[in-house]
Amino acid sequence: MSVLILGATSPIARAVCHEYAADGHSVYLAARDVEEAERIAADVAIRFDVDAVGGPFDALDFDNHGEFVANVETAVGPITVALIAFGDMGDQHASEEDFASAKRVIDVNYTGAASVCEAIADAMLERGAGSIIGISSVAGERGRKSNYFYGSAKGAFTLYLQGLRNRLFEQGIHVMTVKLGFVDTRMTFGMETAIPVATPQQAAQAIVHAQERGENELYYPRFWKGIMGVIKAIPEGLFKRLSL
Ligand SMILES: NC(=O)c1ccc[n+]([C@@H]2O[C@H](COP(=O)([O-])OP(=O)(O)OC[C@H]3O[C@@H](n4cnc5c(N)ncnc54)[C@H](OP(=O)(O)O)[C@@H]3O)[C@@H](O)[C@H]2O)c1
Repeated sequence: MSVLILGATSPIARAVCHEYAADGHSVYLAARDVEEAERIAADVAIRFDVDAVGGPFDALDFDNHGEFVANVETAVGPITVALIAFGDMGDQHASEEDFASAKRVIDVNYTGAASVCEAIADAMLERGAGSIIGISSVAGERGRKSNYFYGSAKGAFTLYLQGLRNRLFEQGIHVMTVKLGFVDTRMTFGMETAIPVATPQQAAQAIVHAQERGENELYYPRFWKGIMGVIKAIPEGLFKRLSL
């Protein structure tokens, strides 16, 4: 089995990679920083005694996503599991000031994610097998003034994955949406919250377990499903007055 990890410098992505490598699976670690991807791959190869390859990937390089997937399969064989872990929260204030900043957030989190998922799905369709894990966010469940460019892009990715799952189900391909709450990474660094924050390792174990069970959707930490149920139930007239 060969596992493709996109956004390999993310601590969550690395922890997921460790879970699969510990089970003896080959891994391809792709990141914008190719030297870092190769360094992580060398570490995984030694640590778990598996084939591990590092290579370049940019979510914004839409024109080359098909070629990228072909190169991955040349290097490690048919992709059996693909993890879409990259993401960029951006800066909400900068995005309000300059739409170019908003567009980058939308393009990384949605357009780039959908583009590479299509390329992966095409490869998996040839074999009628495979599993795609897309990391989305609870931020995509309701628009908030503090992060609505990121939230709307993740919300679009969530809907995209839902449709892709619906389309690929009959062809034997599994698509899982991961709706993460707070996980301790550089994305949440310095954030103050009373809500418990999960470790990347905890998130990774839950993700791999859910993928192996063929689940469609995973909230992690799981209590976020309840929190979002409450947040989504707040009437818009009240919600727009809240500072969330
Ligand atoms: N941490 C949380 O609480 C939380 C909550 C909800 C959802 N998420 C999602 O979880 C995933 C992992 O994030 P994280 O928390 O581990 O944060 P992170 O450490 O900031 O990881 C983000 C990853 O995305 C990559 N990336 C950004 N722009 C890219 C691009 N244009 N092309 C390719 N890769 C790109 C980064 O690569 P570089 O190293 O090159 O920058 C990095 O590997 C993301 O999808 C994030 O939206 C996280």
